[in-house]
Amino acid sequence: MHSPLLDQYLADIQKFESPLPLLDLACGSGRNGLFILENKLPVTFADIKAESLAEVKQTINNDTAKFTSSLTSFWQVDFEKENSKPFTDNSYSAVMVFRYLHRPLMEKIKAAVASNGFVIYETFTTFQAELGRPKNPAFLLKPGELAEIFADWQILHYFEGTKMSDTGGNNQAIAQIVARKPL
Ligand SMILES: C[S@@+](CC[C@H](N)C(=O)[O-])C[C@H]1O[C@@H](n2cnc3c(N)ncnc32)[C@H](O)[C@@H]1O
Repeated sequence: MHSPLLDQYLADIQKFESPLPLLDLACGSGRNGLFILENKLPVTFADIKAESLAEVKQTINNDTAKFTSSLTSFWQVDFEKENSKPFTDNSYSAVMVFRYLHRPLMEKIKAAVASNGFVIYETFTTFQAELGRPKNPAFLLKPGELAEIFADWQILHYFEGTKMSDTGGNNQAIAQIVARKPL
């Protein structure tokens, strides 16, 4: 199941009318990017795992009535390679990241979003360590961290707390942000 945040902000993203793709960064099975693609916006699916990208491709090819394959691109990439600059500046209408954190990437993500474009970010907070995995602090946001990173953007939505997982199962401790890059 895709994130309900996307239902909430899809209309704003569509209104932006950018020809640039949205980046589903660390896409996994592509649940979020596939929802965007279903709504006829171009999506780049990026992940380190070739198997994940192959799975997304298969899902798209299996339902050509639902998904427009010409709107998609696939990018196998290691976002944690040291000293790399994986993105060109201002190259995505939106970058969305769910359940993935690599702190050195944050400023690069901000630069990769086009002016007036969006970031949609949701991942676990330090409180998650008390509820289950992940427990490694490198993968857990500190209180207020996401809001602080995007403090110079227009924050459309912010949440920090406990919510049921979108994909079923247990409560999880997360932070969410939807923010718009200044013009
Ligand atoms: C917990 S999954 C989240 C998948 C998806 N965003 C979602 O919420 O359903 C984390 C994803 O990050 C990807 N990943 C982990 N390390 C990565 C790296 N260094 N570069 C690119 N992707 C990476 C994994 O392959 C995995 O698909």
